[in-house]
Order: sequence, then structure tokens, then C-alpha cells
Amino acid sequence: MTNRRPSSARWLEEHRNDPYVSAARRDGYRSRAAYKLIEIDTALAARSQGRGLFRPGDVVVELGAAPGGWTQVAASRVGDHGRVVAMDLLPMDPVPGALILQGDFLDEAVLEPLRAGMGPTGQADVLLSDMAPNMTGFKVADQGRVSVLAQASLDFAVEVLRPGGRIVLKLFQGPDFHELVRLTRMLFSSVKVEKPPASRDRSAELYLIGSGFKGRSEHLQKHDD
Ligand SMILES: C[S@@+](CC[C@H](N)C(=O)[O-])C[C@H]1O[C@@H](n2cnc3c(N)ncnc32)[C@H](O)[C@@H]1O
Repeated sequence: MTNRRPSSARWLEEHRNDPYVSAARRDGYRSRAAYKLIEIDTALAARSQGRGLFRPGDVVVELGAAPGGWTQVAASRVGDHGRVVAMDLLPMDPVPGALILQGDFLDEAVLEPLRAGMGPTGQADVLLSDMAPNMTGFKVADQGRVSVLAQASLDFAVEVLRPGGRIVLKLFQGPDFHELVRLTRMLFSSVKVEKPPASRDRSAELYLIGSGFKGRSEHLQKHDD
């Protein structure tokens, strides 16, 4: 307990002086994390002739959504004709325009409601994963959990994304990082690894952004090789 005090005091101080925290309060976002998605979207649009992550009417699947900053951004970008299916282990307050599901993404039982939420085609235009496990401090165990979540998200993207679809996947530097980037490059025509300015320097998180999903056959071929 005594160990935690200095770091929680540091966190409070950092939180108070964080411009993204004030901006989130001003703009009505539930988390400062909303700006990471906005920055990723803006950077993608800047290098792709103005085409960012979202189009009006898109179906978006979001994994690890609580408290809901990314959900708010995605729901406003896809508009009334779009659909956002957001899930988390934790309960989440409703977000207009989004279907909220609670469950563990690694539990097969939540996959069915997730697929059903996407609508009659069961397909999505965008998959977002900001999932992060609770870190135990044991490096090997933590890295293992992080890469299981990232790999499962990528597998689900292959199952549900339409050709041409986009993905944003939170990753942490670790032994499987380069392999996940390599796999993503096989599946998407353009892949970038980014650290958006809103991501704290001390956080080891990075985001893998893939656009132009090549379709399921590329993945099946990879497993046949
Ligand atoms: C960094 S937070 C997401 C913040 C969110 N993007 C936002 O804008 O508010 C990571 C989330 O991943 C969730 N998570 C971790 N493991 C998960 C799992 N196995 N299934 C579902 N959600 C999970 C956590 O509960 C946590 O809410």
C-alpha cells in the first residue's frame, strides 16, 4: 500500500495538468482516450486523400470499449445510418447510436451477440481494439495476455471484416510484436504502426492501423503455407 501512494499522487498531478483531460471535459468525451482515435483517424486521412477510418453508414466493431470515448467518436462518425457494436468486460453507460455488450472477448459465448449486433450480413467495415488486460507486473505473464488479446482480435477481424475494411489494434512492444505486424501486413494493403500524441510517453502501447483488408482468402492461404 505504501508503495502505491507516490504513484497515485503522481497520477493525480499528471491528470490535473493533462490538456487531453481538460479537452475531454470540454468536448463531452468520457475519456481522454477519445483523442487517440481522433488523432489516428486524422493521420490516416492525411495520407489517404482524405479517407480516414470511418464512412457514414459503416458498421464498426469495438473491443475493449469502456468507458466509451472511442464509442462516442465512432458513433458520431458513422452517423444515423451506421452501427457501432461495442463490448467490454466492464459495464458501460449507453452511447446513442451504439449497441453495448458486456463480456469477455476471449469467451466464445460473447462472439454470437457480437456477430448478431453487426446486422444481417454479420460483416463490419471497421474493427477497433483498445483492449488492455489488467497488468500484474509479471512481464512474461502480462506480455502473454496482451498478445493473446491482439491475436484474437486479428482473427476476429479476418472473420468479420469486409474486403477493403480497416483495423486499429492496440499492441504493446514484446516478443510477438513483430510477428503481429508481419501478419497484419499480409492481410491489409496498407499498415502503419503509430503512437498518437495523446498516448502517454510512459505507456508502452502502440497502435497498428491497417486499411484495405484483402479478404479472408489471404489468411487461409497463410495457414496453408
Ligand atoms: C484502455 S481501456 C479502453 C478505453 C476506451 N477505448 C475509451 O475510449 O474509453 C481498455 C479496456 O479493455 C477492456 N478489456 C480488457 N480485456 C478485455 C477482454 N478480455 N474482453 C473485453 N474487454 C476487455 C478493459 O476492461 C478496459 O475497459
